[in-house]
Amino acid sequence: MCEPEWPQPDRERMILPAPVGFLGTGMADPEPGLFARLDAGHVMMMGDNPALPRMPARPQLMDFFRLRFSDITARHLLTSAARALEAGQDEKIVVACLLHDISNGCLIRTDHGYWGAQMIAPYVSEEIAWAVQYHQALRYFADEAVGYSYPESYARFFGPDYVPPDYIRRDAEMAREHRWYMTSRAVTLYDIYFFQDTPVPDPELFTDIIGRNFRQPEEGLGFDSSPAAHMWRTAIWPNNFL
Ligand SMILES: [Fe+2]
Ligand SMILES: [Fe+2]
Repeated sequence: MCEPEWPQPDRERMILPAPVGFLGTGMADPEPGLFARLDAGHVMMMGDNPALPRMPARPQLMDFFRLRFSDITARHLLTSAARALEAGQDEKIVVACLLHDISNGCLIRTDHGYWGAQMIAPYVSEEIAWAVQYHQALRYFADEAVGYSYPESYARFFGPDYVPPDYIRRDAEMAREHRWYMTSRAVTLYDIYFFQDTPVPDPELFTDIIGRNFRQPEEGLGFDSSPAAHMWRTAIWPNNFL
Protein backbone atom coordinates (compact mmCIF):
# COMPACT_ATOMS: atom_id res chain seq x y z
CA MET A 1 0.00 0.00 0.00
CA CYS A 2 1.50 3.33 -0.91
CA GLU A 3 1.55 6.35 1.35
CA PRO A 4 -0.94 9.09 0.54
CA GLU A 5 0.72 12.06 -1.11
CA TRP A 6 1.32 14.83 1.44
CA PRO A 7 0.74 17.69 1.35
CA GLN A 8 -2.23 17.14 -0.91
CA PRO A 9 -1.76 19.65 -3.72
CA ASP A 10 -5.40 20.74 -3.56
CA ARG A 11 -5.13 21.83 0.08
CA GLU A 12 -4.00 25.28 1.02
CA ARG A 13 -1.55 25.23 3.91
CA MET A 14 -2.13 28.23 6.19
CA ILE A 15 0.69 29.88 8.15
CA LEU A 16 0.33 31.03 11.75
CA PRO A 17 3.26 33.36 12.57
CA ALA A 18 5.26 32.43 15.69
CA PRO A 19 4.12 34.31 18.83
CA VAL A 20 7.48 36.15 19.03
CA GLY A 21 6.87 37.35 15.48
CA PHE A 22 3.62 39.17 16.16
CA LEU A 23 3.14 39.68 19.94
CA GLY A 24 3.06 43.36 20.67
CA THR A 25 3.13 44.43 17.03
CA GLY A 26 -0.50 45.48 16.97
CA MET A 27 -1.28 42.65 14.54
CA ALA A 28 -4.47 40.91 15.62
CA ASP A 29 -3.97 37.33 16.81
CA PRO A 30 -4.43 35.37 13.56
CA GLU A 31 -5.06 32.00 15.25
CA PRO A 32 -8.86 32.15 15.66
CA GLY A 33 -9.29 33.27 12.06
CA LEU A 34 -7.15 30.44 10.73
CA PHE A 35 -8.97 27.87 12.86
CA ALA A 36 -12.25 29.11 11.42
CA ARG A 37 -10.97 28.41 7.91
CA LEU A 38 -9.91 24.80 8.57
CA ASP A 39 -11.88 22.55 6.24
CA ALA A 40 -11.33 19.93 3.55
CA GLY A 41 -9.38 22.47 1.49
CA HIS A 42 -7.40 24.17 4.26
CA VAL A 43 -4.82 22.74 6.65
CA MET A 44 -2.02 24.22 8.72
CA MET A 45 1.50 24.53 7.31
CA MET A 46 3.85 21.64 8.02
CA GLY A 47 7.02 20.66 6.19
CA ASP A 48 8.64 22.43 3.25
CA ASN A 49 7.04 25.77 2.55
CA PRO A 50 7.10 26.25 -1.23
CA ALA A 51 7.63 29.99 -0.68
CA LEU A 52 11.12 29.21 0.66
CA PRO A 53 14.06 27.70 -1.23
CA ARG A 54 14.25 23.98 -0.58
CA MET A 55 17.03 22.88 1.76
CA PRO A 56 19.17 19.83 0.96
CA ALA A 57 18.39 16.65 2.90
CA ARG A 58 21.62 16.99 4.91
CA PRO A 59 22.09 20.72 5.29
CA GLN A 60 25.49 22.18 6.06
CA LEU A 61 26.30 25.54 7.56
CA MET A 62 26.65 27.38 4.26
CA ASP A 63 23.25 26.10 3.09
CA PHE A 64 21.71 28.23 5.83
CA PHE A 65 23.72 31.24 4.68
CA ARG A 66 22.56 30.73 1.08
CA LEU A 67 18.99 29.56 1.55
CA ARG A 68 17.71 30.89 4.86
CA PHE A 69 19.56 33.99 6.06
CA SER A 70 18.19 37.43 5.42
CA ASP A 71 20.32 39.28 2.89
CA ILE A 72 21.49 41.87 5.40
CA THR A 73 22.62 39.25 7.90
CA ALA A 74 24.46 37.10 5.33
CA ARG A 75 26.29 40.18 4.09
CA HIS A 76 27.02 41.36 7.63
CA LEU A 77 28.44 38.03 8.81
CA LEU A 78 30.53 37.34 5.71
CA THR A 79 31.95 40.86 5.71
CA SER A 80 32.76 40.96 9.40
CA ALA A 81 34.53 37.58 9.15
CA ALA A 82 36.42 38.76 6.05
CA ARG A 83 37.60 41.86 7.94
CA ALA A 84 38.84 39.70 10.81
CA LEU A 85 40.65 37.45 8.33
CA GLU A 86 42.27 40.39 6.54
CA ALA A 87 43.42 41.73 9.89
CA GLY A 88 45.26 38.46 10.49
CA GLN A 89 43.06 37.37 13.39
CA ASP A 90 43.10 33.83 14.71
CA GLU A 91 40.69 31.37 13.08
CA LYS A 92 38.58 31.13 16.24
CA ILE A 93 37.88 34.87 15.95
CA VAL A 94 37.12 34.64 12.24
CA VAL A 95 34.61 31.86 12.95
CA ALA A 96 33.06 33.74 15.88
CA CYS A 97 32.62 36.74 13.56
CA LEU A 98 31.12 34.53 10.88
CA LEU A 99 28.55 33.11 13.32
CA HIS A 100 27.95 35.90 15.82
CA ASP A 101 24.52 37.01 14.51
CA ILE A 102 23.42 33.64 13.15
CA SER A 103 20.25 33.83 15.23
CA ASN A 104 19.28 37.11 13.59
CA GLY A 105 19.76 35.51 10.20
CA CYS A 106 17.30 32.68 10.55
CA LEU A 107 15.81 32.25 14.01
CA ILE A 108 15.11 35.06 16.46
CA ARG A 109 16.40 38.56 17.17
CA THR A 110 15.61 38.94 20.88
CA ASP A 111 18.70 37.91 22.90
CA HIS A 112 20.33 36.81 19.66
CA GLY A 113 23.78 36.31 21.22
CA TYR A 114 22.42 33.76 23.69
CA TRP A 115 20.30 31.92 21.12
CA GLY A 116 23.14 31.91 18.59
CA ALA A 117 25.61 30.54 21.12
CA GLN A 118 23.28 27.65 22.00
CA MET A 119 22.65 26.93 18.35
CA ILE A 120 26.35 26.51 17.51
CA ALA A 121 27.62 25.10 20.82
CA PRO A 122 27.59 21.42 19.78
CA TYR A 123 29.69 22.18 16.70
CA VAL A 124 32.34 24.71 17.72
CA SER A 125 34.85 25.15 20.56
CA GLU A 126 33.51 26.35 23.89
CA GLU A 127 35.46 29.57 23.39
CA ILE A 128 33.78 30.39 20.06
CA ALA A 129 30.29 29.80 21.49
CA TRP A 130 31.20 31.89 24.53
CA ALA A 131 32.39 34.76 22.32
CA VAL A 132 29.13 34.69 20.37
CA GLN A 133 27.05 34.70 23.55
CA TYR A 134 28.82 37.65 25.17
CA HIS A 135 29.30 39.87 22.11
CA GLN A 136 25.66 40.89 22.60
CA ALA A 137 26.34 42.45 26.00
CA LEU A 138 29.83 43.75 25.20
CA ARG A 139 28.47 45.75 22.27
CA TYR A 140 26.92 48.25 24.72
CA PHE A 141 30.13 49.04 26.59
CA ALA A 142 33.09 50.92 25.17
CA ASP A 143 36.65 49.77 25.78
CA GLU A 144 38.75 52.58 24.38
CA ALA A 145 41.96 50.81 25.41
CA VAL A 146 41.36 48.26 22.66
CA GLY A 147 39.77 50.68 20.20
CA TYR A 148 36.10 49.88 20.80
CA SER A 149 33.64 52.77 21.10
CA TYR A 150 29.90 52.67 21.72
CA PRO A 151 28.38 52.08 18.27
CA GLU A 152 27.01 55.08 16.46
CA SER A 153 24.46 52.69 14.92
CA TYR A 154 23.10 51.90 18.41
CA ALA A 155 22.46 55.58 19.02
CA ARG A 156 20.35 55.50 15.85
CA PHE A 157 18.65 52.17 16.63
CA PHE A 158 17.74 52.91 20.23
CA GLY A 159 18.06 56.68 20.70
CA PRO A 160 20.95 58.47 22.38
CA ASP A 161 19.67 57.91 25.93
CA TYR A 162 19.15 54.13 25.81
CA VAL A 163 20.27 52.25 28.93
CA PRO A 164 20.75 48.47 28.58
CA PRO A 165 18.99 46.27 31.16
CA ASP A 166 20.71 44.91 34.26
CA TYR A 167 21.31 41.42 32.90
CA ILE A 168 23.23 42.89 29.96
CA ARG A 169 25.36 45.06 32.26
CA ARG A 170 25.99 42.12 34.59
CA ASP A 171 27.01 39.80 31.75
CA ALA A 172 29.28 42.43 30.17
CA GLU A 173 31.02 42.98 33.51
CA MET A 174 31.50 39.25 33.95
CA ALA A 175 32.81 38.91 30.38
CA ARG A 176 35.26 41.74 30.91
CA GLU A 177 36.96 39.74 33.68
CA HIS A 178 36.94 36.45 31.78
CA ARG A 179 39.99 34.87 30.17
CA TRP A 180 38.21 34.81 26.81
CA TYR A 181 37.26 38.48 26.96
CA MET A 182 39.36 39.51 23.97
CA THR A 183 37.83 36.80 21.75
CA SER A 184 34.36 38.19 22.32
CA ARG A 185 35.61 41.78 22.25
CA ALA A 186 37.22 41.07 18.85
CA VAL A 187 33.77 40.11 17.53
CA THR A 188 32.50 43.55 18.51
CA LEU A 189 35.48 45.22 16.80
CA TYR A 190 34.47 43.78 13.41
CA ASP A 191 30.73 44.02 14.08
CA ILE A 192 30.00 47.10 12.01
CA TYR A 193 27.17 47.84 9.61
CA PHE A 194 29.02 49.78 6.93
CA PHE A 195 28.79 47.19 4.24
CA GLN A 196 25.96 48.13 1.95
CA ASP A 197 28.20 49.40 -0.83
CA THR A 198 30.98 46.85 -0.59
CA PRO A 199 30.84 43.58 -2.53
CA VAL A 200 29.77 40.56 -0.46
CA PRO A 201 32.76 38.29 0.22
CA ASP A 202 32.64 34.89 -1.47
CA PRO A 203 31.54 32.31 1.15
CA GLU A 204 34.15 29.95 -0.36
CA LEU A 205 36.74 32.10 1.37
CA PHE A 206 35.77 30.37 4.61
CA THR A 207 35.43 26.75 3.46
CA ASP A 208 38.71 25.54 4.98
CA ILE A 209 38.32 27.55 8.18
CA ILE A 210 34.81 26.17 8.67
CA GLY A 211 36.15 22.68 8.00
CA ARG A 212 38.68 23.06 10.79
CA ASN A 213 36.45 24.84 13.33
CA PHE A 214 32.85 23.74 12.77
CA ARG A 215 32.00 20.04 13.17
CA GLN A 216 29.34 19.52 10.52
CA PRO A 217 27.24 16.49 11.49
CA GLU A 218 27.07 13.72 8.93
CA GLU A 219 23.25 13.60 9.16
CA GLY A 220 23.04 17.32 8.42
CA LEU A 221 22.33 20.23 10.77
CA GLY A 222 18.91 19.64 12.29
CA PHE A 223 19.03 15.86 12.02
CA ASP A 224 21.90 14.83 14.27
CA SER A 225 20.00 14.75 17.58
CA SER A 226 22.35 17.26 19.19
CA PRO A 227 20.84 19.47 21.95
CA ALA A 228 20.52 22.26 19.35
CA ALA A 229 19.19 20.23 16.40
CA HIS A 230 15.66 21.59 16.91
CA MET A 231 16.93 25.14 16.44
CA TRP A 232 18.33 24.29 13.00
CA ARG A 233 15.12 22.44 12.10
CA THR A 234 13.17 25.54 13.10
CA ALA A 235 15.25 27.51 10.59
CA ILE A 236 14.58 24.88 7.92
CA TRP A 237 10.82 24.86 8.60
CA PRO A 238 10.12 28.24 10.22
CA ASN A 239 6.40 28.12 9.44
CA ASN A 240 5.48 24.74 10.93
CA PHE A 241 2.30 24.96 12.98
CA LEU A 242 3.79 22.60 15.58
FE1 LIG B 1 25.06 40.90 17.40
FE1 LIG C 1 26.65 41.88 14.25
